[in-house]
Amino acid sequence: MSIKTVSTQPFTDQKPGTSGLRKRVKAFQQTNYLENFVQAIFNSLEGYQGQTLVVGGDGRYYNRQAIQIILKMSAANGFGRVLVGQGGILSTPAASCVIRKNQAFGGIILSASHNPGGPDNDFGIKYNIGNGGPAPEKVTEAIYTYSKEITSYQILATEDVNLDKLGTSQLGSMQVEVIDSVADYGDLMASLFDFDLIRKFIASGNFRMCIDSMHAVTGPYAIEIFEERLGAPIGTVQNGTPLEDFGGGHPDPNLVYAHELVDILYGEGAPDFGAASDGDGDRNMILGRKFFVTPSDSLAILAANAKLVPGYSSGLAGVARSMPTSQAVDKVAAQLGMDCYETPTGWKFFGNLLDAGKATLCGEESFGTGSNHVREKDGLWAVLFWLNILAVKQQSVESIVKEHWQSYGRNYYSRHDYEEVDTEKANTLMTNLRSLLSTLKGKQFGQYQVAYADDFGYTDPIDGSISQKQGIRIGFSDGSRIVFRLSGTGTQGATLRVYLESYEPDVAKQNLDPQQALADLITLSDEIAQIRQMTGREKPTVIT
Ligand code: G1P
Ligand code: ZN
Repeated sequence: MSIKTVSTQPFTDQKPGTSGLRKRVKAFQQTNYLENFVQAIFNSLEGYQGQTLVVGGDGRYYNRQAIQIILKMSAANGFGRVLVGQGGILSTPAASCVIRKNQAFGGIILSASHNPGGPDNDFGIKYNIGNGGPAPEKVTEAIYTYSKEITSYQILATEDVNLDKLGTSQLGSMQVEVIDSVADYGDLMASLFDFDLIRKFIASGNFRMCIDSMHAVTGPYAIEIFEERLGAPIGTVQNGTPLEDFGGGHPDPNLVYAHELVDILYGEGAPDFGAASDGDGDRNMILGRKFFVTPSDSLAILAANAKLVPGYSSGLAGVARSMPTSQAVDKVAAQLGMDCYETPTGWKFFGNLLDAGKATLCGEESFGTGSNHVREKDGLWAVLFWLNILAVKQQSVESIVKEHWQSYGRNYYSRHDYEEVDTEKANTLMTNLRSLLSTLKGKQFGQYQVAYADDFGYTDPIDGSISQKQGIRIGFSDGSRIVFRLSGTGTQGATLRVYLESYEPDVAKQNLDPQQALADLITLSDEIAQIRQMTGREKPTVIT
């Protein structure tokens, strides 16, 4: 086995986005494309010689090939040991858990999250640091810089590793350990939630649930946790076999793409509880019988009820949400007397707050919720949190949410996405909006008066790092908001996201359809940003 140094030329498009580098599979299959990026990751790191790296992915097309390349490159670059999930599988939160539990130097996660998979769809790669969380911007910027300068990479000339057989083998002087993908994560969940109580609740026969893994990574995790450890009937987990193309579906747990589950929860004889997770297992959607829980509300409700759950019974240090996420959790924080942090979009911004013990729960409107148990958002964790609350309160999902609105008011919320818009047009729309900002304050639009208008900037309270231009916020005097930003995870053209929020304290007015409640703000967002004219689109591609 010899270490080969292979000459290469840089690619100019390896800038990591909101969550790592995401491209079409075909882009990753170009000669040296993946190798360059992996070498750029290693070049940006210091002190990893002899250390442990965790590697795994969501099982999508090209996962196995990518892992073989990464293993050989890790050996050639001097890592001492790699822990890899069996079959190359590790959900994103499980990878975070394994990094932390083994005090690994870091990890490489192969996933394009909720983007479709298969030879003509997406692939992705990201680096996580030793705390188990996504690399912060200074690391991703260094990776990008190295990717633009790279002239060669190192790889071990050797046979592929058998990823399906548990156990240890040698790759040059590096050890490869194929680990059970679920065990550590399952144990962590059992340590946080009252599994005995949930098991009894499920066994009582008064509660039925349905979990949709969307043919993505959570299948094996959900089957072991819900059906085996918690005794839910076999078949509770649907679409539980991970497939390389997610069965042709779009593994994004929202009302549009998880329609199979939605149809069950809104159909005849619907179960009491439904949940879905995404391609790599970090997102979640929570449904009650004929009832959808908005992710921003879900975060607020978990925070308000955290004391009922063993892992959080001693209280929360604080909470954090991404800027576009609704302010529902802010109300809970205010009432419980804890700090609430507002960060830019992307889980990497929560890492420092969690490490410093400033926040315990974090969440994003994009179906992401998590806590300090790992450093990624965690789909099945959110489902278990809900199950634990339901088992304690013995109430329906709908009544828990409605009681919450009664106590804290309701934050009507919706996100309108315009996908695959011409990049230049989308950039012009944002530039035009930016140039309007200074003129908006105090302006009256019908019943709405602009209280502030800015482009969100964030100074990390722990390390002082500054992130500018994180989304345009237009806030109104009644607490309503419209936020505009461009996606950092799309792979085709640009995606414009418009986030709409209004606050309704009056219980009598809390039962509207959010699109109805937000209708005036929706019209106003078009008036201010000229969305239809600029994008040429009559309506959003996806509404969540
Ligand atoms: C999207 C979500 C963001 C999430 C990210 C990764 O990023 O909006 O909240 O952290 O996916 O799951 P965006 O495409 O908006 O940049
Ligand atoms: Zn994901």
